[in-house]
Amino acid sequence: MALLKTQALKKHYGNGDTAVHALDGVNLEVESGEFVAIVGTSGSGKSTLLHMLGGLDRPTSGNVTIDGKDISTLKDEELTIFRRRKIGFVFQNYNLVPVLNVYENIVLPIELDGKEPDKTHIDKIVHTLGLDHKMNNLPNNLSGGQQQRVAIARALAAKPA
Ligand SMILES: Nc1ncnc2c1ncn2[C@@H]1O[C@H](COP(=O)(O)OP(=O)(O)OP(=O)(O)O)[C@@H](O)[C@H]1O
Ligand SMILES: [Mg+2]
Repeated sequence: MALLKTQALKKHYGNGDTAVHALDGVNLEVESGEFVAIVGTSGSGKSTLLHMLGGLDRPTSGNVTIDGKDISTLKDEELTIFRRRKIGFVFQNYNLVPVLNVYENIVLPIELDGKEPDKTHIDKIVHTLGLDHKMNNLPNNLSGGQQQRVAIARALAAKPA
């Protein structure tokens, strides 16, 4: 069974003449462990698709199934919990919390979920991403690439599906 599936997924912004059909019937299946790249020109709808797949925004119609669950059936609060446990999302603009240091940013979703971070797993991610010596820095004091890697570490920290 596909880990991730969309059926006739549509997302329209606005109404009438100015409406933007950012997604207009996307059918996609991704297996567990599969790597997929979504490629397209600026404004073609990549972030919109990822926001739908990540449960960050609701589609206009169609559905998204993750690990067997149609996420449109979840209420907002259930979706928030589902997202924290199942999905790792790297925002295009990173969305790091400026008043938290690198370590605190990485473990934030786990702590919001009331769980203990798996220290061995976090250490491994941090080491792989070359962030070992930056754990006490605030995001403002990092390079763009380092900020991007903190966002990646945060997305992987809770071992998403
Ligand atoms: N909140 C919004 N309200 C109205 N229109 C939007 C909104 N978000 C995106 N759009 C429009 O939807 C289309 C797709 O935008 P999207 O951000 O998905 O593109 P993208 O492929 O990620 O682009 P980029 O490569 O520049 O990041 C664009 O025409 C954009 O202007
Ligand atoms: Mg984008």
